[in-house]
Amino acid sequence: MLNFSFHAPTRIHFGRGQAAQLAQEIPPGSRVLLTSGGGSIRNNGVLDAVLAQLAACTVIEFNGIEPNPEFETLKRAAELGRQEKVDWVLAVGGGSVADGSKFIAAAIDLDADIDPWLLVGNKTRVNSARPLGVVLTLPATGAEANNVGVISRRETLDKQSFRSPHVFPRFAVLDPEFTFSLPPRQVGNGVVDAFVHTLEQYLTYPVDARVQDRMAEGILQTLIEVGPQTLAQPHDYAARANYMWAANQALFGLVGAGQPQDWASHAIGHELTALYGLDHARSLSVTVPHLLRYCRSDKAAKLRQYGERVWGLAGSDDAIIDGAIAATRDFFARMGLPVTLAEAGIDAAEAAVRLEANLPRHKPQPVGEHGKLTAADCAAIVRMSV
Ligand code: NZQ
Ligand code: ZN
Repeated sequence: MLNFSFHAPTRIHFGRGQAAQLAQEIPPGSRVLLTSGGGSIRNNGVLDAVLAQLAACTVIEFNGIEPNPEFETLKRAAELGRQEKVDWVLAVGGGSVADGSKFIAAAIDLDADIDPWLLVGNKTRVNSARPLGVVLTLPATGAEANNVGVISRRETLDKQSFRSPHVFPRFAVLDPEFTFSLPPRQVGNGVVDAFVHTLEQYLTYPVDARVQDRMAEGILQTLIEVGPQTLAQPHDYAARANYMWAANQALFGLVGAGQPQDWASHAIGHELTALYGLDHARSLSVTVPHLLRYCRSDKAAKLRQYGERVWGLAGSDDAIIDGAIAATRDFFARMGLPVTLAEAGIDAAEAAVRLEANLPRHKPQPVGEHGKLTAADCAAIVRMSV
């Protein structure tokens, strides 16, 4: 096992009715910037449930944070937060609202003469941030309990992350019933995103990290079980609760502690979203099966373990590895996601050329668990996605 330090300061309130914890988490009299997306929380009752717990606070609402949160929008939110001298930021929504709110919380505290765009890619230091809480409505990213934010700037084709210990949410409310209103597309996306987060930290090379390996395998098997159940029975609380907890744990940090990590699919996926506006999870579902083929020999030992333990495959090494890659691809398709760029309506050859030019602006060094996949390798993977 590799050395690691682990710090996870987010308090998690999980289950039905847990929005009641908001009244304890945010002190009475606080000025709260409540951030949200395009309107789902108004239509499904989540906003009312949250506001009912904030009666003792002054709430300033900012809505309109887009999927793949846009820098210009977040800058306006931070200006509002600063003018209103808010004490807290409360994100109510999916990963985009949570990530955008991490940026807002940090930008409010930034010196007025610093361009907030410098936060992205950590080009300026984050010395502090407004305290942040998250009420999650879409299990997928793990953003509710980690310190990463992924921010987009459509004008310049940028999609890039930043991280800081100051933007760890202080708490997260995870009520599975708040996700019942998700359309099937977002459930499919959420399950696949969580699945790929687990693969990024597991499907590399063995370092005898047995607890982490078995946690990863448990999360993957749970998602394989509850993903289709959740699609078929959207009001099955037990399936929904297990999906929500699996997605949280997939990017909570424990699965990847002491493990080599890949993240090349995410590097490629973020470029595909920046260039073509593809949903985040779909940028992964069209990449992962092809990346596994491209990196087959480097990942052979773990691919075999994954095939045997997660998919129950037996036979020769080659048969297990082929079977594991095919099963992964079939699972994404069963969840309703495309597994080639053609299915997503994108020309792979053109995408490869554009990605090779754009990727080095965001990832100057080679990526992958061995740090050897160059932009040309990533383009080759994209070219295979036909
Ligand atoms: O905007 P509203 O109206 O809320 O609608 C949203 C949005 O249209 C809708 N939705 C959310 N909860 C709902 C709901 N609709 C009905 N009922 C509900 N309960 O779903 C749509 C997508 O929401 P979004 O927040 O964009 O999805 P997701 O949670 O998948 O987040 C994706 C973003 O997170 C980033 C991605 O790159 C992308 O920008 N990621 C963040 C990570 C992190 N912070 O660690 C890691 C991930 O790998 C990922 O990169
Ligand atoms: Zn992801």
